[in-house]
Amino acid sequence: MAKRVCVIGAGPSGITAAKNLLDQDMEVVVYDLGTEVGGNWVFTEKVGHSSVFETTHIISSRTLSEYADFPMPLDYPDYPSHKNLAAYFQSYAKQFNLYPYIKFNTLVKHCERLDNGEWEVTTISNNIEQKETFDALAVCNGHHWLPRMPDYPGQFAGEFIHSHEVKKFSHFSGKRVLVIGGGNSACDVAVESSRVADSVDISWRRGYWIAPKFIMGKPSDVFSTKINWLPKKIWQMASALSLYFRNGKNSDYGLPEPDGPLGSHHPTINEDLFFTIRHGKIKPRQDIERLDGNEVYFKDGSKGCYDVIVACTGYIISHPFFEKQFIDYSEGDVPLWLRMMHPEIKNLYFIGLFQPLGCIWPGSELQSKIMARELAGEWKRPDHINSLINQELRHPDFKQINTPRHTITVDFHRFRKRLLKQLPSNYIRHAVGASK
Ligand SMILES: Cc1cc2nc3c(=O)[nH]c(=O)nc-3n(C[C@H](O)[C@H](O)[C@H](O)COP(=O)(O)OP(=O)(O)OC[C@H]3O[C@@H](n4cnc5c(N)ncnc54)[C@H](O)[C@@H]3O)c2cc1C
Ligand SMILES: NC(=O)c1ccc[n+]([C@@H]2O[C@H](COP(=O)([O-])OP(=O)(O)OC[C@H]3O[C@@H](n4cnc5c(N)ncnc54)[C@H](OP(=O)(O)O)[C@@H]3O)[C@@H](O)[C@H]2O)c1
Repeated sequence: MAKRVCVIGAGPSGITAAKNLLDQDMEVVVYDLGTEVGGNWVFTEKVGHSSVFETTHIISSRTLSEYADFPMPLDYPDYPSHKNLAAYFQSYAKQFNLYPYIKFNTLVKHCERLDNGEWEVTTISNNIEQKETFDALAVCNGHHWLPRMPDYPGQFAGEFIHSHEVKKFSHFSGKRVLVIGGGNSACDVAVESSRVADSVDISWRRGYWIAPKFIMGKPSDVFSTKINWLPKKIWQMASALSLYFRNGKNSDYGLPEPDGPLGSHHPTINEDLFFTIRHGKIKPRQDIERLDGNEVYFKDGSKGCYDVIVACTGYIISHPFFEKQFIDYSEGDVPLWLRMMHPEIKNLYFIGLFQPLGCIWPGSELQSKIMARELAGEWKRPDHINSLINQELRHPDFKQINTPRHTITVDFHRFRKRLLKQLPSNYIRHAVGASK
């Protein structure tokens, strides 16, 4: 008998979960609190689930950012915009006839595992609460929507927002802006706001590797893939050298040097940060010590005066529909095999709950295929899943700095290989990047 599966979220992970479950003749219900397919990539000017800006283009290139079952349109640029991506995800949903299975404007409020092992899912839509039961749960609610705010001594008299709230850069017109962070949001916000703001400073609490979008005329991830066969240390050195030839050192731009090798933090891919600093439009600052009125005091004893602070300090992993004592991955290790399977509960899957050095949804697609095959009885998980989880936690693909954003990192290629190992060799129609 077909199993009933609840999919939470119709973002890039949720739609591929639904597609692959339907391929295995499962009965699927997808709930999404939004009004369209695409999750983070459905840009609106209102603050909601999405965290993209009006100007966002992806940082993983087109060639390595497509589902194996659904190549990106050939006329897409190397780095598609959020609009391109929303259209791509919506075409995927149309192509595989997913819309009839999605209930939009529906919040999953609570999920509870019943004594018989089924899931009772409580939803709210138009203020009406409903409960339904399912044989399995696929959690695809994303992990870039709940802001992580920093806390400093003192009070700031201006506007103090998180990058999640940044939509249009005209908001910064004529203002003195301080951006906190060295990740992709921070560098995008600093560069884009510098086009209209009165001044922009960027505060880093440590040094970060900043990679360009192109190396030798190729998208950086494509270039990096070409030398991926090298032993990791050599790969790290060769990549670092190519960045040095391209940009020189961080200190050439007044920024601290990274304190670990390439891969020791989530990569920041930005073509314009160094350029904009050297055009005098962005001023580097050290970590913040305290706030006082409109003034911000930095750890090197300097200070600046600002109208707006934008904390681009990342996101907290959150599953608010579970009891906290049952699932809480907001900090520390996330003990799931292949980043998707719970050590004890077999009918609970997490799809897309990993942070690749590369793109998320091709990995979500492979996870979904494994989930669907297991539910269809075509694949069985190993019995020693606890030891496999421990092994994964003890031997991460990259040894990273111990900060809150680094609990779910995987290397795109190695993770892909681990997932493919669980699938029949002829199962994937074409390799990632085949549309090029
Ligand atoms: C600015 C920005 C740029 C990024 N660029 C890249 C990139 O270049 N490459 C890359 O691979 N990744 C990038 N990411 C990461 C991003 O998380 C992924 O691209 C992708 O969106 C993950 O898909 P997902 O389906 O797992 O999650 P999401 O896209 O977040 O989708 C989750 C869906 O679940 C729904 N949902 C959540 N909670 C509930 C609930 N309780 N009830 C009902 N529905 C719910 C939401 O409405 C949403 O539709 C970027 C992130 C940001 C913030
Ligand atoms: N163009 C794009 O495609 C694009 C744009 C934006 C974001 N993204 C993606 O979206 C995801 C989230 O990126 P993000 O940049 O928003 O978050 P992020 O990767 O978590 O980066 C957060 C940054 O803030 C710093 N930080 C955190 N807490 C801090 C504190 N208390 N004080 C000072 N600094 C602090 C972090 O430093 P530590 O290293 O010390 O933790 C890091 O530099 C990533 O997957 C990213 O690739 C992509």
